[in-house]
Amino acid sequence: MVTEILWRQPGKMTQFEQRSLESLVEEVSDEFVPPLSTRSSTTQAVLASASGSASISYFDELLMEHCLLLLECDQLQGFLSFRTFHRDTRLPHIGICIYVSTISVRPAARRRGLARLLYQKVLGLPETLPAWILLCTRSTNTHHLQLLDTLGFKHLLAVPSRRDPAVDSIYLGRKR
Ligand SMILES: CC(C)(COP(=O)(O)OP(=O)(O)OC[C@H]1O[C@@H](n2cnc3c(N)ncnc32)[C@H](O)[C@@H]1OP(=O)(O)O)[C@@H](O)C(=O)NCCC(=O)NCCS
Repeated sequence: MVTEILWRQPGKMTQFEQRSLESLVEEVSDEFVPPLSTRSSTTQAVLASASGSASISYFDELLMEHCLLLLECDQLQGFLSFRTFHRDTRLPHIGICIYVSTISVRPAARRRGLARLLYQKVLGLPETLPAWILLCTRSTNTHHLQLLDTLGFKHLLAVPSRRDPAVDSIYLGRKR
């Protein structure tokens, strides 16, 4: 099977790639909290979901970020979006970093190491980009946390969720 990862700069996806990405986002939307289709931004991890036209806003914002598209035999199976010069004032010691805003793999293609490949691609981005990588995931997303642990990501910050006090938003990071 031919597997390739295409790196698309902000706003540089073809119409066909955009349609494939939109279809994948729709397929996995409800696995995120709040669902991707109800978010108003790519960094909205814990806020109450917005409604109506906000779905357009999330996808439009996604297209204005860097995006890694993972293809198997020309079929989009997963993606990872990131920002290249992000700063989180709660984490002053890491300074400007790469921020991974979303990662997802098509359900039918999971447990075959595709998410690992996407993260490895981020780890291998050019040295002209920031050394630190930061991301946020829910404390209940044990599969994702397990993967990040094996990739050497460390817990940097936990923020209680406003929607569910039993769940934290966990910020993890590592230096490339
Ligand atoms: C999290 C996600 C991206 C993982 O994608 P994936 O391609 O299946 O992950 P990989 O095959 O690379 O898994 C790598 C490791 O993660 C862990 N893992 C991933 N899925 C797992 C599962 N269902 N059960 C147990 N461990 C799992 C394992 O340690 C696995 O290594 P192993 O297969 O050698 O045991 C995918 O499940 C997904 O898209 N989930 C919905 C969206 C999401 O939660 N995104 C992250 C929040 S931003």
